[in-house]
Amino acid sequence: MELIDGKKVSGDIKKEIAAEVAEMIAAGKKQPHLAAVLVGHDGGSETYVAAKVKACEECGFKSTLIRFEDDVTEEELLATVDKLNGDEDIDGFIVQLPLPKHISEQKVIEAIDYRKDVDGFHPINVGRMSIGLPCFVSATPAGIMELLSRYGINTKGANCVVLGRSNIVGKPVSMLMMQKGNPGNATVTVCHSATKNIKEICRDADIIIAALGSPEFVKEDMVKDGAVIVDVGTTRVPSSVTKSGWKLKGDVDFEHVAPKCSYITPVPGGVGPMTIVSLMKNTLLAAKKIIY
Ligand code: GUN
Repeated sequence: MELIDGKKVSGDIKKEIAAEVAEMIAAGKKQPHLAAVLVGHDGGSETYVAAKVKACEECGFKSTLIRFEDDVTEEELLATVDKLNGDEDIDGFIVQLPLPKHISEQKVIEAIDYRKDVDGFHPINVGRMSIGLPCFVSATPAGIMELLSRYGINTKGANCVVLGRSNIVGKPVSMLMMQKGNPGNATVTVCHSATKNIKEICRDADIIIAALGSPEFVKEDMVKDGAVIVDVGTTRVPSSVTKSGWKLKGDVDFEHVAPKCSYITPVPGGVGPMTIVSLMKNTLLAAKKIIY
């Protein structure tokens, strides 16, 4: 069993990005600039956005954080999106999700100029990704593909089971895995809450990508010997041993599943760090203005 070290790979990629940014600046180009909009004080969102700002520093990017309280109106948020769309210094920006219930996430996403949509959530980017055109691919699926690529994992002809059909992970990663390409070219099955016999389907998988948000859902008896497991789960569960009072749990029962695998991503330190670095890659791409 080999552990897929997302922390190490993401560190390597940040260094590659920083080197490219240094070259851009030496050539007289402007510093790439990412803005993040954060509404409210959700613990998870705070943590993710802080990590994104820190990653910007490590990559040599400028970053701007725009904060609103929970009671911000949809109009105010849409006006901010409009301003960021028109701000020439900002190459890309994200609006951290989830948003409060009184704001339509879809409306906000669709208001973002797709050329600055480094989250890859705008329907133009999703549509382009689904037919294999240049676009911003959303960060978690892009990070998963990067890990498979850097570890030289063969996906061609593999039976790949994706657990979960979210717009952020399950749907896009299933499309990327089935597309012609390397990684890609897999035979993909997507399982969700209405799927019958998930256990049997998983047992046949060469690769399982678990993105359900259900801690330790994937058990030992659902995994065949030598399978590759990518665990996207990041559920906060109470813990008496951490200072914060919680720890992250993946969708895979790591202790019992890991010994059966050829490769597996840990939680934390697997897919998580790759998600943030993929956002940095998209920001660099946005700064180069080659997606139009
Ligand atoms: N909330 C959880 N993941 C993400 C993400 O990748 N981007 C944004 N904007 N919000 C999120």
